[in-house]
Amino acid sequence: ELTGHQHYMYKEMLEQPDKAAAVIRGRLDERFATARLNGLNLSPKELRAFRRVKILGCGSAYYVGQIGAQLIEDLARIPADAEAASEFRYRNPIIEPETLYVVVSQSGETADTAFAVSEIKRKGGTVVAVVNAVGSTIAREVHGGIYLHAGPEIAVASTKALTNMAIAFAMLALHMGRLRDLSVADGERILHALKRIPEQIQQVLDNEPAIAEVAKALAQAQNAFYIGRVRQYPVAREGAQKLKEISYVHAEAYPTSELKHGPLALIDESMITVAIVPDDDLTERNVGAVQQVLARGGQVVALSHESVDLQGLDVERIDVPKSEPELDPILMVIPTQLLAYHAALTLGYDIDKPRNLAKSVTVE
Ligand code: BG6
Repeated sequence: ELTGHQHYMYKEMLEQPDKAAAVIRGRLDERFATARLNGLNLSPKELRAFRRVKILGCGSAYYVGQIGAQLIEDLARIPADAEAASEFRYRNPIIEPETLYVVVSQSGETADTAFAVSEIKRKGGTVVAVVNAVGSTIAREVHGGIYLHAGPEIAVASTKALTNMAIAFAMLALHMGRLRDLSVADGERILHALKRIPEQIQQVLDNEPAIAEVAKALAQAQNAFYIGRVRQYPVAREGAQKLKEISYVHAEAYPTSELKHGPLALIDESMITVAIVPDDDLTERNVGAVQQVLARGGQVVALSHESVDLQGLDVERIDVPKSEPELDPILMVIPTQLLAYHAALTLGYDIDKPRNLAKSVTVE
């Protein structure tokens, strides 16, 4: 019988509060309500000159990039988007001098991401990295960046590196925001919320027994949907990816708003929907979507906040601690890791080495 501690993925999930504290350490500037990111090697003047941010990564790193793009738009009000580096490299991308390119990678060795770096540089663009592995190929090639300080990550399914990527993007967004129009008050609001993230991650981890129970239902499913709206849509994508990667349960992510435009057709008793229902300005709409799924006989797991009124709906509920709305996705990712992990554990799979996957894909 397998026990949790025999897996690197489990060990790495449990390390997250400490590692999250490590990526934040020394980088928050209380006096100016901003983040200090000297490793970027970009002066305030240079950073202010960018009119757009393009984030590139593969797999989970790409989904975190989507979280990052939203954070940058929210806090710095600079148009930002994320793209899979694996696609970017094959489509003759337009490289603009006024765009800041940010690549994201745990290993720093992913070939598609490294190629994107070379291509951007060759065309005269500015590229920085959010990267874990110190001295890796990508870390050496870029203009500057933010190291994640997550320590070595062994399990193929990324957990602690991914969480620290999201935190690094929050700090980048805070930093860029405070060089523009983010007020001192809003800077302080984000800064103080960031400081609480490590202990809040611990609170999610402490809820493991309840999450493990819910995961048993996912393990029995043939298919699952993960749905989330706007800030939480990348979390849904990451959650679905994790479930597929290690438990081999077929899972797809959709923006909650897209349900009625197609996927609703697939809802029946055999479909489980993991719905992200945070306490924010879209709560009512998200609860409405849950009702629609239930009305068609679907089962629902709601990842929510305690303050959300789920109106007595018949769902399996997992609450995570509330942060500021912009940072909520960081904490919402944690239960999706535990769900995937416990589904795979229930099914008895080789969690650290899922079939057909490598930790770092260094070939084309
Ligand atoms: C994939 C791995 O091939 O590469 C994913 O299976 C990972 O788990 C992705 O997220 C990107 O890797 P890295 O090292 O560039 O973050």
